Amino acid sequence: MHDLNYAKALRDYYNHPANPVHLNRVSDKAREVDMQSSQPGHWRWELALALRRALRGKRVLEIACGTGVWTRVIVDVAGFVLATDASPRIQLDAYDLASAPGEFDAALAINWLQHVPCARHAEFLDLLHRKLRRGATVFIGTSHRSAEWRADLFRPPGEPDFYSRRTRPDGCEYEVIDNLFSKEELGRIFAPVASRLRFRSAQAYSWITYETTKRRGGEHHARKEKDAGRDAR
Ligand SMILES: C[S@@+](CC[C@H](N)C(=O)[O-])C[C@H]1O[C@@H](n2cnc3c(N)ncnc32)[C@H](O)[C@@H]1O
Repeated sequence: MHDLNYAKALRDYYNHPANPVHLNRVSDKAREVDMQSSQPGHWRWELALALRRALRGKRVLEIACGTGVWTRVIVDVAGFVLATDASPRIQLDAYDLASAPGEFDAALAINWLQHVPCARHAEFLDLLHRKLRRGATVFIGTSHRSAEWRADLFRPPGEPDFYSRRTRPDGCEYEVIDNLFSKEELGRIFAPVASRLRFRSAQAYSWITYETTKRRGGEHHARKEKDAGRDAR
């Protein structure tokens, strides 16, 4: 699938107004999140604890925050949080981070990396690191997938990405990129631009944390700048 069509389809899938995630009463969801995050041993508590430790006092740029369930657990310990998503209510595309105001000393993305095409990892990391000061903390987490979910994933011949079939509440069908990452694969993606890279797998989520060293995908920007120069001539 062409990258731009895919990016639009992913946004359409998540942002349909009848998606159950948008129908939950905000106050009910907030109460549930607060209760689970403060209940020792709960899967949400484990991740909340790690997030609060890693992001305490930082200026955090959150990518693809969805309804903000993870924003909620850090907002009282972080120095500042800019929570972004491509939804119509928030409107900041993860591939257009330059328009996010300010510079940050931490970044957070939960359940976003699996939707990024492998061919765009370098581009995404480069864009993200451009918004962060050197040595910033990055926290990237993904939820574990059940055996049934994994069994339904498919990879079209010749493509690097895995997909899952999703059906929107109005019956519209989507093929969404849903990659799975081993510890080794995460190492290959992040080690070139990270120091103190750590991996943790807990009950319901696994996550990495690292500190930024240099940008990834400099060649992507060098090419874009060269193209822009040529187009201007
Ligand atoms: C699996 S949800 C994760 C939401 C939230 N982080 C969580 O863990 O509950 C993926 C999110 O990615 C957002 N999204 C899709 N395409 C995007 C894009 N190009 N830029 C930013 N966010 C995007 C969707 O709107 C959706 O909220």
